[in-house]
Amino acid sequence: MMSVNTHHAPRRGVRVVASGKCLPETRLTNHDLESCMETSHEWILKRTGITERRRARWDEGEKTSTLATNALRAAMQNANIAPDQLDLLLVATMTPDTPTPSVSCIVSRELGCGNIAAIDINAACSGFIYTMNLADAMARTGMYNTIGVIGADCITQFIDYSTYGRGAAILFGDAAAAIVLQASDDIELGMIAQRMHSEGEGSKHLFIPSQQIDFPDQEDYDERKLKKVQMNGQAVFKFAVSKFQEVIENTLNDAGLTADDVDHFICHQANSRILEAARERFGIPEEKLLVNIHKYGNTVAASAPLVFDELREAGRIQPGQRVMFLAFGAGLTWGSSLWQL
Ligand code: COA
Repeated sequence: MMSVNTHHAPRRGVRVVASGKCLPETRLTNHDLESCMETSHEWILKRTGITERRRARWDEGEKTSTLATNALRAAMQNANIAPDQLDLLLVATMTPDTPTPSVSCIVSRELGCGNIAAIDINAACSGFIYTMNLADAMARTGMYNTIGVIGADCITQFIDYSTYGRGAAILFGDAAAAIVLQASDDIELGMIAQRMHSEGEGSKHLFIPSQQIDFPDQEDYDERKLKKVQMNGQAVFKFAVSKFQEVIENTLNDAGLTADDVDHFICHQANSRILEAARERFGIPEEKLLVNIHKYGNTVAASAPLVFDELREAGRIQPGQRVMFLAFGAGLTWGSSLWQL
């Protein structure tokens, strides 16, 4: 497969300035799920590592844009940057409030960012990683200086919380997290290697159908599946384990680094067993690969930046470190973004 990689003679670098997050208040524990479907806390914990997840009150107006706005507001407060200093806003999401306006336009309006460029990007769970790569490129060209990058999803509205939908129901939660980036005179800072991949053939393993014609295999059609996440768990698991490890290896090779040279692997939290397999394969110590899936489940595009924000809040993100953002998801998509902080 062709490699698409490191920059040629960048004129400037990109600094990660701050991060923030927003989690819905409502918690959905494994025990809550036991009361609406045939499952058990023990089964979920053993197979996924998840104990609870959050759920946005969509019916009460708590939407993707609400979480996204609050996450970016928190990040900008941490960065001590005013909304009108941003000149580009990128939102990774597969669950916009409505087809239009975009989540980024709503966030810009709510925060008072003015007439800035506002773009939504849909690469499902890989969205934040894709977006970090695009943000770095747009800052390095000199076109944009201060960029808000948000991962935000409210996927639980597309979940069937009955025994029929239990395969996907146990996994997902709602959240948003954001990072603020700024162009820097230090050309060493910013993304140093990246990968972005897709495989449309695999879309049949993870999709949300709107109508009968959206089912890749018409025999699978069932009205109960409309507008609900459809997932072939075992196929996605196999894809994730192999691509996750492949993308880590390729990114390290592209950068001429080993796993020891990376301070934090900031991974999409889909299943603790997938993360554990990667950790063992590359001999990554536990403290370099934070797992927080037990608290939030799989939060789609918010997942990796939530990990980053947790590390930053704990004082574990420091200038001079190298961090690798990693994700895989529906599409199918997968990717990496290795940063010099
Ligand atoms: N509670 C209890 N039992 C369940 C269950 C649940 N929530 N979901 C499925 N089961 C049952 C199945 O019906 C099956 O029963 P059977 O053996 O009697 O037929 C059994 O458990 C095993 O099902 P299986 O689908 O093989 O389980 P699994 O070990 O593959 O685990 C997942 C299921 C979803 C946890 C796992 O496949 C997974 O994590 N896949 C990756 C999903 C993912 O990461 N998606 C997002 C990508 S961004």
